[in-house]
Amino acid sequence: MRKAALLLMTLVQLAPTPLRASVVQQVPLPVGKCVNTGNHLETPSEDANGQKRLEAADFVRIRAAGFDTVRIPVDWYKHSASAPPYRIEPKWLDRVDEVVRQALAAHLHVILDSHNFNLVHSNPAEGSPWLGEVWRQVAAHFARQPTSQLWFEIENEPHDKLTNANLMATLGPALAAIRESNPDRPVVIGGQNWSGIDSLATLDLPDDPHVYATFHYYEPFAFTHQGAGWVNPSPPLGRHYGLPEDKARLITDAAKVDAFVARTGRVPFIGESGAFESVPLAERADYLRAISTSLAPHTSGLCVWAYTNTFPMWDHVGGHWLPGMLEAIGLPGEKPSKSK
Ligand code: BGC
Repeated sequence: MRKAALLLMTLVQLAPTPLRASVVQQVPLPVGKCVNTGNHLETPSEDANGQKRLEAADFVRIRAAGFDTVRIPVDWYKHSASAPPYRIEPKWLDRVDEVVRQALAAHLHVILDSHNFNLVHSNPAEGSPWLGEVWRQVAAHFARQPTSQLWFEIENEPHDKLTNANLMATLGPALAAIRESNPDRPVVIGGQNWSGIDSLATLDLPDDPHVYATFHYYEPFAFTHQGAGWVNPSPPLGRHYGLPEDKARLITDAAKVDAFVARTGRVPFIGESGAFESVPLAERADYLRAISTSLAPHTSGLCVWAYTNTFPMWDHVGGHWLPGMLEAIGLPGEKPSKSK
């Protein structure tokens, strides 16, 4: 009888922590002002036509402009074997390591994500073990980097068949694999439907005080994605920002963030926001200013999309920050004399 009770106790202790909704007392992740290195390490080729390759000077410049954090999207899916043990190409891990070290050396917080891990969205059950084993390798590789500076994000923008209903069943193995080597590293998770703001309403994160919530904000999509070739149908050009309904929406959306905080105890951050370059520059800046002043204060930070290769803040051909863009998110901006 006693033996059986002991065995039962042991089994209970060994059982994996149930993944369930919980209210945590969590100090918000200090994301602050953040920029995505979009269209670099998550694109089909880092060296594609017209793309700028990331180098140490980029992170020095980003830090000097006043950013606290950089979110680095990475395609691990394309660079890992499709069968167990899903080995990541060593050259690719070296390249990501180089970029992460450059960002850390510039005293930036780094959110290292997995981006475009297509199988986990189209077939979550099949993609889950592969993603988990990839994160086991990534986490072990970066385990010695400071947890105050380097944070992981398991998968960008869950969509298609990856929903809030199966989110933790699917991403749980990756989180468990990360926890084996990184017991208290901040890990970021966003919800369904491309992590849009409405995903927060049903986003239930596991009972882990080092798991942080994120969402992405491109509302109204008809404004931010006008003329975007990868969206079908592409919203027509000419939608301006600042209509009465846009202002009203920001208030309702800020209330959605507040409701999430009240329900879960977690303050999320905006992992992506911005407008495509077919929107005139001044209107892009107006949009970011509105998000930065009305929505971001309800969150723990705003990561603009993106640095230079798409939705740009920095003009890598002209060698200057685009006028008004830094100021729009509350950074001082650069003096004309420093423009090269
Ligand atoms: C995608 C990009 C896209 C951006 C804005 C990102 O998450 O990876 O391809 O340009 O969102 O739509």
